[in-house]
Amino acid sequence: MEMMLENDWGEFEKGMDLSRGMYVQSIAHISKSMKRNLSMNNHDYSALKPFLRWAGGKSKLVKTLVDFVPPSNSYDRYFEPFVGAGALFFHIGPSKAVLSDLNTDLINCYQQVAKHPEGVWNLLQVHREFNNKEYYYHIRSQKPEKLKPIEQAARFIYLNKAAFNGIYRVNRQGVFNVPYGPSFKGPALPKKSLIEAASGLLKRVNLLAADYQEVCESAKRDDFIYLDPPYPPTNGTAYFTHYTADRFNWDDQREVSKVFQNLDRRGCLVMMSNSDRKEIRSMFQGYYMQQLNVTRWIGSNGDRFKAHEIIVTNYNPSEFRNGD
Ligand SMILES: C[S@@+](CC[C@H](N)C(=O)[O-])C[C@H]1O[C@@H](n2cnc3c(N)ncnc32)[C@H](O)[C@@H]1O
Repeated sequence: MEMMLENDWGEFEKGMDLSRGMYVQSIAHISKSMKRNLSMNNHDYSALKPFLRWAGGKSKLVKTLVDFVPPSNSYDRYFEPFVGAGALFFHIGPSKAVLSDLNTDLINCYQQVAKHPEGVWNLLQVHREFNNKEYYYHIRSQKPEKLKPIEQAARFIYLNKAAFNGIYRVNRQGVFNVPYGPSFKGPALPKKSLIEAASGLLKRVNLLAADYQEVCESAKRDDFIYLDPPYPPTNGTAYFTHYTADRFNWDDQREVSKVFQNLDRRGCLVMMSNSDRKEIRSMFQGYYMQQLNVTRWIGSNGDRFKAHEIIVTNYNPSEFRNGD
C-alpha cells in the first residue's frame, strides 16, 4: 500500500472520488475476508480508562481515534509498541494484544497489576494513608531496583499520581525527577475496581519492555499496529517530554516512518498518531492522512505553540466507517 495517491480523508467525506482503481490496487495485500470485515465495524469496547496519567496520553482523544481503528474482526493481534498509559488499548480491550514500551518501570507496573491486582492495591492504600510532601520525596528517593517488583509497581502508580501534572520525566541518568504536585485533596489514586478491570485485560496481553522496532519485527500479516511515538522536538532540540533517558529526535521520527512502511509491506494494518508538522507529512507521503480537530499546547516558556494532531493509516478508514 506504499506510495498510493496522496489524499485527505476530509475530501473523501465531502464526496470527492479518489481513484477507486488505484485504491483497490493499493490494498491488494489485504485479503478478501479482511476487506469484507472492514465494512462491519463491530467494535465491542471495554471502554476502560487508563489508571495512569501520561504526557502525550490519548485519553481525551480516544473517542476520535477509535473511528480510525479497523473493526476487531479485521485483524488478528493488536500491537501498541509505544503504549504509555494505553488509552486506546484500554478503550478497545482487544482479546489478543502485544503491548510494549521502552520504559521498563511502566511495563513492570502493568505486569504486576496483571498478576497481583489486590497486592498492588493494598500497597497503594499505604501510600494513600501516608501521603504528604515529605513522604513523596522519601518514596521518590528510593532506588526502585532495591524494591520487590510489586512494590516498584505501587511506587510507580503513586509517583505518577502525586507528581506535578502527573508527568513522567527522567533525567539523562534515567532517574525520575518530577516535584510533588497534588492539591490539598491528595493524589487521585485509582479505585480498586479500575485496577481489577485493568488486570483482567492485561492478563491476556503479551507485555514487553523493549524498543518498538524490535517488537514491530514480530508483527505478522493481518496484525493491527498502532504507533504513537513521542512528539518531535518543538524547535531544533527542545522536547515536550522525557519518558526515557534517551530522547526521541528527528532521525527517530524518520525511523518510525521506515518501520511503518515495512509493516505495510508485510500486510499489517498500521495507524500512527503524531503532531501535524510538515516534516511528518512529508515522511508519510502516499498514505492516508487526517488532521484531527484537536489542538494542544506544546513547548515551554517562550516557544509554546498550538499543534494539531494527525492520524496516518495505510488503509482507508472511511471504507469501513461508511460500510461501503
Ligand atoms: C506519546 S507516548 C504514548 C502515549 C500513549 N499512547 C497513551 O495513550 O498514553 C510515547 C511512549 O513511547 C515510549 N518510547 C519512547 N521511545 C521508545 C522506543 N524507542 N521504543 C518504545 N517505546 C518508546 C515512551 O516511554 C512513551 O511511553
